[in-house]
Amino acid sequence: MKEFLEWAKKGGPEAKLASRLDPEKLPRHIAVIMDGNGRWARKRLLPRAAGHRAGVRSVRETIEACCRLGIDALTLYAFSAENWKRPRSEVETLWDLLSHYLRKELDELKANNVRFQVIGRIEALPRRAQDDIDFAIVETAANTGLRLNIALNYGGRAEIIDAVNSVLAQARQTDGEARVTEASFREHLYSPDIPDPDLLIRTSGEMRISNFLLWQIAYAEIFVTERLWPDFRAIDLLEAIEDFQKRERRFGGLGPDQPNAETEAAPALASASTSSDYVE
Ligand code: FPP
Repeated sequence: MKEFLEWAKKGGPEAKLASRLDPEKLPRHIAVIMDGNGRWARKRLLPRAAGHRAGVRSVRETIEACCRLGIDALTLYAFSAENWKRPRSEVETLWDLLSHYLRKELDELKANNVRFQVIGRIEALPRRAQDDIDFAIVETAANTGLRLNIALNYGGRAEIIDAVNSVLAQARQTDGEARVTEASFREHLYSPDIPDPDLLIRTSGEMRISNFLLWQIAYAEIFVTERLWPDFRAIDLLEAIEDFQKRERRFGGLGPDQPNAETEAAPALASASTSSDYVE
């Protein structure tokens, strides 16, 4: 946070907004559905690819702002399992942009202590994109700052199905018993070591989850902004965090203003929840 205040232009709107945030109540993991690139381009009579190219600037700025704020993890939804339905030229543009981004920005990611990761069925991506991803993962593996997690060829249902198949494969190798708990199932998801998102941001005003992190967003606070992704800036991220800090997160329990006597049900509920290790 101190770093953010130094980074934001002194006296500028970002610094003012950042100074209003409670550094003790920052979301640990922010997930973003980056939407509106096509509409941004259409408004300017540009091809859709121009919207995606402009969206890279927002990616860069969001990552930098998260680094400065000391956010633990950022997951960006860059390509859904359903995005293959788009015209081939648009799909190719997206893979080219990803490769270009990784080649151009890797030094910057390393300088910012970012650890790069991906989720999704990566094996279906073009070879060049896979190579660039593998290189970035290896090069940043020892970094201890922001966990940057890019969702590529990602689907929330596919992730759950992959996890179920992983459970079954493990059971076949052991004693054949496939009994899971929420905690053990979680270990089979794509990134079990990253806590569930606290804050889910969606740009462009759409009120949809679009098959994103279906398991992990069970208790995420959702923030939808009308801003189209290529227009999304650090100030928008700060506004989302400010809004998040006003929410009362109850996780099914009672708010702080409610009488909260210990009940007999409490131990049963606590043991049913696997999220308790990172739930506040
Ligand atoms: C959604 O907008 C956006 C995408 C499907 C792609 C997101 C990709 C980028 C921001 C650039 C590359 C990413 C990285 C990580 C370097 P849309 O095309 O669905 O917009 P629309 O709903 O207005 O048509």
